[in-house]
Amino acid sequence: MTTVLAIETSCDETAVAVIKNCEILSNVVASQMAAHSQFGGIVPEFASRQHLETIDAAIAQALTDAGSDWNQIDGIAATCAPGLVGALMVGTTAAKTLAMLHQKPFLGIHHLEGHIYACYLSQPQLQPPFLCLLVSGGHTSLIHVRAPGDYHSLGRTRDDAAGEAFDKVARLLQLGYPGGPAIDKAAKTGNPDAFAFPEGKVSRPEGGYHRYDCSFSGLKTAVLRLVQQLEATGEPLPVADLAASFQKTVAQALTSRAIACATDYQLDTIVVGGGVAANSALREHLQAAASERQIRVIFPPLKFCTDNAAMIGCAAASHLAQGRTSPLDLGVRSRMPLAEVMHLYQPPTTNQPVSDAFAKSGESP
Ligand code: KG4
Ligand code: ZN
Repeated sequence: MTTVLAIETSCDETAVAVIKNCEILSNVVASQMAAHSQFGGIVPEFASRQHLETIDAAIAQALTDAGSDWNQIDGIAATCAPGLVGALMVGTTAAKTLAMLHQKPFLGIHHLEGHIYACYLSQPQLQPPFLCLLVSGGHTSLIHVRAPGDYHSLGRTRDDAAGEAFDKVARLLQLGYPGGPAIDKAAKTGNPDAFAFPEGKVSRPEGGYHRYDCSFSGLKTAVLRLVQQLEATGEPLPVADLAASFQKTVAQALTSRAIACATDYQLDTIVVGGGVAANSALREHLQAAASERQIRVIFPPLKFCTDNAAMIGCAAASHLAQGRTSPLDLGVRSRMPLAEVMHLYQPPTTNQPVSDAFAKSGESP
């Protein structure tokens, strides 16, 4: 059994969890959302300062809730990429300081790998290979998870991330921030067939459309144009119908690409991760399309779709159990491809050549 204290501060949640393998001993999430909503989005400097003010109390709370003391913690982890650099610095600096103080290994965790591991919190028996549809505020991609730590991107958005599209359209409809939950709520009383929006297909130079890539900027512009036309009539905006129609278009676009990809690669499981995995229309559309084709779909429990430290701890416990740790001089990065995740770790024995260590664990750097 591997017990990890994990910290997540990549954006606007100060989150700390204590995780034993994939079992949650405690899960503290101090959200800054209300504070940022007054600005209509995330203000990076403000986020860093809020993390600084909250992190000590969140760590103490996570330990108390878990009934753990430092002797029971095997490693200390923090998200180190991708995300807001200042915000990431707060979490990683706290984790490194605690690691030095309590003489524990430190692990830097890739935020998107954390979102993949969110599914293990409810399905610890899950085994790769599977397809992961990763849909958050900053990322939208289809990832072939070939083995733990072995990730290959098969499709992606060419412009806005799905969550970003939700946030931008919510702003247009004056539904506030964050946009995803607000659109989901407004859509409940709306007609998803009220308006037809373009799905945003990506052309291929050799002709036809890309089967896995998507684009949301055209959709966002189509909603803007329609809102401008409707406003010109002087009638109240049909916000619920607009929200439901937009949401259905995004859900259909993501569903058709995920199903095509899983089918082409003969993957019988689709795991969904990231904040947009909480979306009710995506859940319905993907579940229905997948069950027609005998594909299993796994969504994380709702509260683990958006950012949390439990998913970071689950990924960290898996790496630590394989003997992987990160150097204390590991930096933070605003961007980092998921395929580079193994670069965050040093081999189990420091004087062993890196390639040998990876060969031993059956993975490639
Ligand atoms: O994964 P996450 O918490 O943070 C990032 O890593 O980006 O995702 C946040 C995104 C936001 O864009 C938010 O609007 C969206 O997830 N989101 C949703 C829902 N809940 C959160 N989008 C659609 N429907 C939801 N129910
Ligand atoms: Zn996230």
